[in-house]
Amino acid sequence: MSAPIVLLLSGPNLNLLGERDPAVYGTATLDDHVATARAAAAEAGLDLEHLQSNHEGVLIDAIHAARGRCAAIVINPGALTHYAWSLHDALDAFAGPVVELHLSDPKAREPWRHLSVVEPVAVATVAGRGGAGYRDAIAVVVDHLGR
Ligand code: DQA
Repeated sequence: MSAPIVLLLSGPNLNLLGERDPAVYGTATLDDHVATARAAAAEAGLDLEHLQSNHEGVLIDAIHAARGRCAAIVINPGALTHYAWSLHDALDAFAGPVVELHLSDPKAREPWRHLSVVEPVAVATVAGRGGAGYRDAIAVVVDHLGR
């Protein structure tokens, strides 16, 4: 039997990690973080797929395509976190566990980052842990899948 799939989604501007605001987001690239998540998933016998997009609709299409195909979703929605209710609704229509992930802690930053529209449909939020958060988010998935 093939391994359950965890879908890791990265929202707008996360393709710039490594160059973008290193004081806030660190110097590791998105590829580095994906490798961390993939290794943690593999340890638990899970496959990891990753998609980064700067477009809300592309992320929503990927969430729809994950229905019935992927066991869990880990998502760092970038700034879409704070206003993209269509992303909320798409995640709400996904049956498996959803983990919200941020490198920084948005609630300790500017007031406009304090609202997360993803939080109500997530089983957990991992924030403020930098790159270690990618491992932590997979650990939450592993717990929820009972692996
Ligand atoms: C972020 C936090 C968001 O507020 C911001 O817009 C991002 C990155 C993070 O990982 O800390 O793009 O999701």
